[in-house]
Amino acid sequence: MCGIIGYCGPKPVKEVLIEGLKRLEYRGYDSAGIAIVNDKGLELIKRRGKILDLKKSIPEKVKGFYGIGHTRWATHGGVTDINAHPHVDCTGKIAIAHNGIIENYSSLKEVLLKEGHTFKSDTDSEVIAHLVEKYYDGSLEHAVKEAVSLLKGTYGIVCISVDEPNTIIGARNGSPLVLGIGDNEMFIASDVTAIVAHTKQVVYLEDGEVVKLTRDGFTTTDLRENPIEKEVEHISWELEEIEKAGYSHFMEKEIFEQPEAVKRAMSGRILHPEASAHLGGLNLTNRDLINIERVKIIGAGTSYYAGMVGAYLLESIARVPAQAEIASELRYRNPVVERNTLYFAVSQSGETADTLYAMRELQRKGATVLGICNVVGSTIARESDGGVYIHSGPEIAVASTKAFSSQITVFYLFSLLLARMRNMSFDEGARYIENLQSIPVKIEKVLSRKNEIERIARKYSHYKDFLFLGRGFNFPVALEGALKLKEISYIHAEGYTAAEIKHGPIALINEETPSVFLIPNDSLKEKILSNVKEVKARGGKVIAIATEGDGEIEDIADDVFYIPETAEAFYPYLMVVPLQLFAYFSAIELGRNVDQPRNLAKSVTVE
Ligand code: M6R
Repeated sequence: MCGIIGYCGPKPVKEVLIEGLKRLEYRGYDSAGIAIVNDKGLELIKRRGKILDLKKSIPEKVKGFYGIGHTRWATHGGVTDINAHPHVDCTGKIAIAHNGIIENYSSLKEVLLKEGHTFKSDTDSEVIAHLVEKYYDGSLEHAVKEAVSLLKGTYGIVCISVDEPNTIIGARNGSPLVLGIGDNEMFIASDVTAIVAHTKQVVYLEDGEVVKLTRDGFTTTDLRENPIEKEVEHISWELEEIEKAGYSHFMEKEIFEQPEAVKRAMSGRILHPEASAHLGGLNLTNRDLINIERVKIIGAGTSYYAGMVGAYLLESIARVPAQAEIASELRYRNPVVERNTLYFAVSQSGETADTLYAMRELQRKGATVLGICNVVGSTIARESDGGVYIHSGPEIAVASTKAFSSQITVFYLFSLLLARMRNMSFDEGARYIENLQSIPVKIEKVLSRKNEIERIARKYSHYKDFLFLGRGFNFPVALEGALKLKEISYIHAEGYTAAEIKHGPIALINEETPSVFLIPNDSLKEKILSNVKEVKARGGKVIAIATEGDGEIEDIADDVFYIPETAEAFYPYLMVVPLQLFAYFSAIELGRNVDQPRNLAKSVTVE
């Protein structure tokens, strides 16, 4: 997804912008550009392709101390040099970079064309540069406000002009912007990752706010010129946390960070004396909690699958009816908000448009929506009625891994909390906590045998289609395993509940379609083994993920990976890790770009 960086200060701006853009690479992009103002006027360099290509194409003589940069992920208009940001007005003096989508750009463009403006790109964003030009009367800030008040859609915008040196104007509506406060220097970016190497002092802009930034500081106002006091926040993420720390890929690093991530998600939230959990940010009293009659969970992609695990847990552990739903579906089906129903919006980034808009729709109908997010200060985290941070640390790889394990941890804790207010005894609660706390060590055991999964992945990576089959708590994990494989290796994979294959998918089974079966030693094992036999009888290859000690599975499956034993409800943690590794090693074997798979972005801020 697109990324923005802007800088104003004593350092050579070219280097700061390129470094910031490199740090935004993880979001996924197809082109990049920078605009710098110096004594020669406005210098604009933009290219399709990688940041490295952009860097090489910047002439040595381009110098300056303030400017803006952008990574683009195409939505309106093809992937071309011209469509890359920044975009400039007709005079070539004003440059803007934009994240988001301007829904009414064609009508605005029509008017601007009639007024004599000439457009160079096919993007929706270019209208902003021309609108700023149109309204410029000596104040860039005023012109930006006039321009954005005409926009329908979402934007995070930065704007500079030759006529107003050492000034950057930023405006936000639905697409994040954060300021970084340095020593005699200021930064603005769509994501703290771009600026964390320079400063930890940040200010998050809200929708409807406009910021004027110079190297000495900033002022924030709304579109009606009312001044807005902003709070400076201190971010705790270290730069090293964002880098690869010796791993070949961010995805590998993040898979291996899961024991720590799960511990962090639990940290300070287990109440041993009460055999319960404490989740500080819920903003709910015990009376509110006991009155919950139903839980609904929304999310997209991996976060939706984590929500599905959550729904299974809430029903079976806390005996509260619960259901997970894809956020983008809920939004447009005019959902009924029932009394005493608690909603959760699950999102690693906290910026996923589908989830955010569904959350807003629910809130508009009077629902209480709690966020389960990783990125502190993200839009969902701020706009939800309360919530829980998963504290995974930055997740850079497009494929989500550690966020899944941390998100489900929040559901394990919340289920415990509700269960202990309802049906669960103290002793049961204590056993549940023991099981939960033993998970990080068990994940480490799985990770220590990554070579076995690597061998299996190499053996099967040439197959074109896979089925991932699980039941109960592990059905969402099967879906997640299939998603992981397709998104990073581009191998077609389908996730199903194992019992369902006889209703259709079994027709796909032959020697060319391997099945990955999740077979924990639990109450459904015998049923799943029958499904395995059905597949074997039709010549299908079977890779099984099974519990240590279940030797009989070796006799049926072609390859088995063993995971440690745990209580039935806790298997998703141990089942998902081998599937993540399987996808990772398959992608490596096929020479894929693991961290930035084609056509995908880390944070999907468009519908
Ligand atoms: O940031 P979010 O958790 O809201 O993102 C949701 C999905 O876009 C995300 O999980 C996506 O499916 C990942 N690429 C899966 O690995």
